[in-house]
Amino acid sequence: MKALEGVKILDFTHVQSGPTCTQLLAWFGADVIKVERPGVGDATRKQLQDVPDADSLYFTMLNHNKRSIELNSKDETGKEVLTRLVQECDVLVENFAPGALDRMGFGWEAIQKINPRMIMASVKGFGPGKYEDCKVYENVAQCAGGSASTTGFLDGPPLVTGAQIGDSGTGLHLALGIVTALFQREKTGKGQKVLAAMQDGVLNLARVKLRDQQRLDHGPLKEYSQFGAGIPFGEATPRAGNDSGGGQPGRILKCKGWETDPNAYTYFITQAAVWKNVCDVIGEPDWKDAEGYATPPERLDKLDAIFARIEEWTMTKTKFEVMDICNPLNIPVGPILSMKEIAEDEGLRATGTIVECDHPERGRYVSVGCPIKLSDSPVEVERSPLLGEHTEEILKSVLGYSDEDVGRIADSGAVGEVKKMAAE
Ligand code: COA
Repeated sequence: MKALEGVKILDFTHVQSGPTCTQLLAWFGADVIKVERPGVGDATRKQLQDVPDADSLYFTMLNHNKRSIELNSKDETGKEVLTRLVQECDVLVENFAPGALDRMGFGWEAIQKINPRMIMASVKGFGPGKYEDCKVYENVAQCAGGSASTTGFLDGPPLVTGAQIGDSGTGLHLALGIVTALFQREKTGKGQKVLAAMQDGVLNLARVKLRDQQRLDHGPLKEYSQFGAGIPFGEATPRAGNDSGGGQPGRILKCKGWETDPNAYTYFITQAAVWKNVCDVIGEPDWKDAEGYATPPERLDKLDAIFARIEEWTMTKTKFEVMDICNPLNIPVGPILSMKEIAEDEGLRATGTIVECDHPERGRYVSVGCPIKLSDSPVEVERSPLLGEHTEEILKSVLGYSDEDVGRIADSGAVGEVKKMAAE
């Protein structure tokens, strides 16, 4: 038994934010029915294609464990089928541009009339207000959510991060909203609207930077390297390079091989509680109690020199040796892992966080499995569906259409040419 077994999701999502959400729900056991435009499908199927005529990794890695139905939701027969899907499903998830669902005739009021128990969950770029009509992509959200202004180095421009906090991050927020609404429906019997705006999702993840904005009113941010370096603060939370958000001084330092390997680095934190261990490891035992070094406030104006000395030591070790030496001493360090190293990581493969799937068009590919593990709801990662692979199956087994009905629907063109042939 899976946690969300019996829950049917009408998955009207595309690109990344919505699909990450419904993929999680599928991994937790929901039946996710992905509705795609006939002959076209989710735009990511053909985006960043690496294997000719095969669904891209962009698509396959975001749409595991789903079923795909081709359906033109603007066609009369297509609307009939969509109405049946709304009746049968528990949750409609969408991340169309604002207004698209209303234009289709399936806005919130229409949905409630068809199925009052339905939960309608949306990702939008912005919440209600000035920008609510904007189309939004990942980096726009990172910028508008406060992340970019606080990422990067003090003397450089704002930076976006490689982690897709706008898309996948908001998908996660939406998934939580959906299961919460399902939980509430158990008591009320009613559906509700769930909205996760990408700007809000990014801001939620950048919460500590708004914390720092307010602390600035009471003086400089002493844990920022900028303070130790004597550089004055401006009006807004500055970019903090690789400083840690929690206040413990930390830097990314070179390790053995850095001259040729762009990822031969480690993150190194000089946590106050283990300062003495740090001193021993790097061969500076006198620093343990020396004036100007013994306490964190005393060290603030010497952090550049201290980290330079630590780096002299890390450069004599590989990033993994640094880990092996520091971990037993409770010195927090983190190797900078490349995606190549992660893809090959045996530990991540053993836990199912890295998985391999077989795909009929592209062969075997590596993917990220479910990052959340439930002890009573195991996840088996299945490949993403081909476009319209389950059209007939869904029409018959979920919606109860007869062979004759399926023929009629296929003849109308509402479910695409391929399925028409299949039905004949
Ligand atoms: N049958 C018929 N029409 C369909 C359809 C189907 N099965 N599925 C989608 N469409 C139509 C939509 O109704 C819409 O038509 P309309 O503009 O005439 O109303 C059209 O396809 C395009 O949808 P849209 O969402 O506007 O796609 P886009 O490619 O123009 O924009 C985004 C893409 C991501 C910018 C936009 O969807 C968006 O801002 N989404 C919300 C925020 C978001 O999730 N962004 C991150 C994505 S990772």
